Amino acid sequence: MKGIILAGGLATRLRPLTWVTNKHLLPIYNKPMIYYPLEAMVRAGIKDVLITSSLDHSGHFENLLKTGEDFGLQLFYAIQSNPKGGIAEAIALADEFAKGEKVLVILGDNIFNFNLLNTVEKFKTKDRGAMIFGIEAPNDPSQYGVIEIDKNGKVLSIEEKPENPKSNIIQTGIYMYDHRVFDFIQALAPSKRGELEVTDLNNIYVKEGSMECEIIDWWVDAGTSFDELLRANNLVAEKVKSGELL
Ligand code: G1P
Repeated sequence: MKGIILAGGLATRLRPLTWVTNKHLLPIYNKPMIYYPLEAMVRAGIKDVLITSSLDHSGHFENLLKTGEDFGLQLFYAIQSNPKGGIAEAIALADEFAKGEKVLVILGDNIFNFNLLNTVEKFKTKDRGAMIFGIEAPNDPSQYGVIEIDKNGKVLSIEEKPENPKSNIIQTGIYMYDHRVFDFIQALAPSKRGELEVTDLNNIYVKEGSMECEIIDWWVDAGTSFDELLRANNLVAEKVKSGELL
């Protein structure tokens, strides 16, 4: 299984911090933000990881992370020329890299310590399908993709930033897909905000009945606002001091 970390975008919500650097290079306590999804890949046993970023910033990631050898994996880099293309468009850049294998996708600003290894191992044995990782909304659910789950844990729907959320469970930026994902992305149309939405992609699997959801413990989308960036820093500082994180 191959890994993809998405580290593009304009991060307009974090300006002026992001005028001259990429949001995923901003500090989260003692490490650059991108270390967290990268270390999650290492814990999950993924050996090849593609980092997608913009032309302006790709070199910054290469300077910082180099070949990936220091992390025990091999890194590859791809450029997303349209920073507003959306998450699904960025995933599509990995088509050739994935070489028909399944993929684990993590958004570069997602901070968590959940170990994905068991789920990755189980997912590898499946013929087809996808997985999302949910969590109780840390704040207003309508800022995220909201997951509706029945009492048996089956995913009924996912709605992107709904005005009236059907539940308090939101999708994090951690996704697993089978090899068909690249064909499915080809069939997507841009949303109202002009992006190929990960939620539209995920709903293809939901409709097929092959989408599963696992609930994880703590998680912060550090890129959404100054407050979430600060919360991620404070939470990680607390966990480093208590020995839960290195
Ligand atoms: C994206 C997804 C959303 C998801 C969130 C998690 O939102 O579209 O469904 O809940 O990531 O980080 P964005 O950060 O692009 O607004």
